[in-house]
Amino acid sequence: MSVNIGNISLAHGVMLAPMAGYTDRAMRLVCHEEGCELSVTEMVSAKAVVYEDKKTFSLAKILPDEGPVAIQIFGSEPEIMAEAAARLSRPTVGARPVAIDINMGCPVHKIFSNGEGSALMRSPELIEKIVGAVKGAVDIPVTAKIRAGIDESSINAVECALAAESGGASMICIHGRTRVQMYGGKADREIIKNVKQSLQIPLFANGDITSAADALSMISDTNADGIAIGRGAVGNPFLFSEIICAMNGESFSEVGIERRAETALRQLRLAIEDKGERVAIPEARKQIALYLHGFRGASALRAKINASTTYAEVEAAFAEILKEQQ
Ligand SMILES: Cc1cc2nc3c(=O)[nH]c(=O)nc-3n(C[C@H](O)[C@H](O)[C@H](O)COP(=O)(O)O)c2cc1C
Repeated sequence: MSVNIGNISLAHGVMLAPMAGYTDRAMRLVCHEEGCELSVTEMVSAKAVVYEDKKTFSLAKILPDEGPVAIQIFGSEPEIMAEAAARLSRPTVGARPVAIDINMGCPVHKIFSNGEGSALMRSPELIEKIVGAVKGAVDIPVTAKIRAGIDESSINAVECALAAESGGASMICIHGRTRVQMYGGKADREIIKNVKQSLQIPLFANGDITSAADALSMISDTNADGIAIGRGAVGNPFLFSEIICAMNGESFSEVGIERRAETALRQLRLAIEDKGERVAIPEARKQIALYLHGFRGASALRAKINASTTYAEVEAAFAEILKEQQ
């Protein structure tokens, strides 16, 4: 099932969802290598971009060796969002993003109380204005990521998605939970299906996809044009190849421990290239040990990685667990 998002064509409609603290270049790259067709940066503040905050530019930096990457921005003021999108879409900041994604789902109090993230879902009119302003400022597709609504009594994903569509969005991605649910409960496929039925532009379904079976049932239950995977890809970028094999009706052979360990270390080396050991190692701890989740010795590996401060120590911890399997 191929999907077009403006001028971007995705052969299977399989993307990596944005995750702050996770979807850096290292994670995006290993996911693309396993078949992910579109990834999204961690969210960046539109205001911080306009004020030229250096750290924000490094979060939004895309390198030419990556696959297609969208940059996600958050904010609430149409002019600032437009200005930020224009700056980020210029080729001078690393490589160019293929799209600008607008965050309309972040549930975190600090963002919500500023009227940003999921707070945008309080006002479909503002959503339309923001998307329209951003669209007018860039020459690449604009997409939006929404939730089901703010709480159970205000489910308005259809209205918000339609507002984004009339503002000129080329694709909507929906996480089927409300803001109040945060990450608890289950993503509601009925709501996703309703949004799909209302839209002309493609809809990507998101929430709780951790296996190929989940991916296929998400598509058949909602009729979505594509799927976005977040937590399921952490420590398991192979999920993308598994899903694509399932979509193609091909069999998928389980990825062995050696390739898992190799990929974990490769992701860590990429993160170190970008951020240096001192920043990359503590940040990557939550991801790297997950690669060997379920294998004998995995909890000892996690403890060792948590205590490591250098790449050599992490590598030695992996060598040890690999030896233990023999
Ligand atoms: C640690 C973490 C960080 C996240 N950061 C973002 C973000 O920056 N922008 C965004 O739109 N969604 C963010 N999300 C939400 C995910 O994109 C996704 O919608 C959610 O995790 C549900 O999908 P999943 O079950 O596949 O993880 C984040 C989720 C997690 C767990």
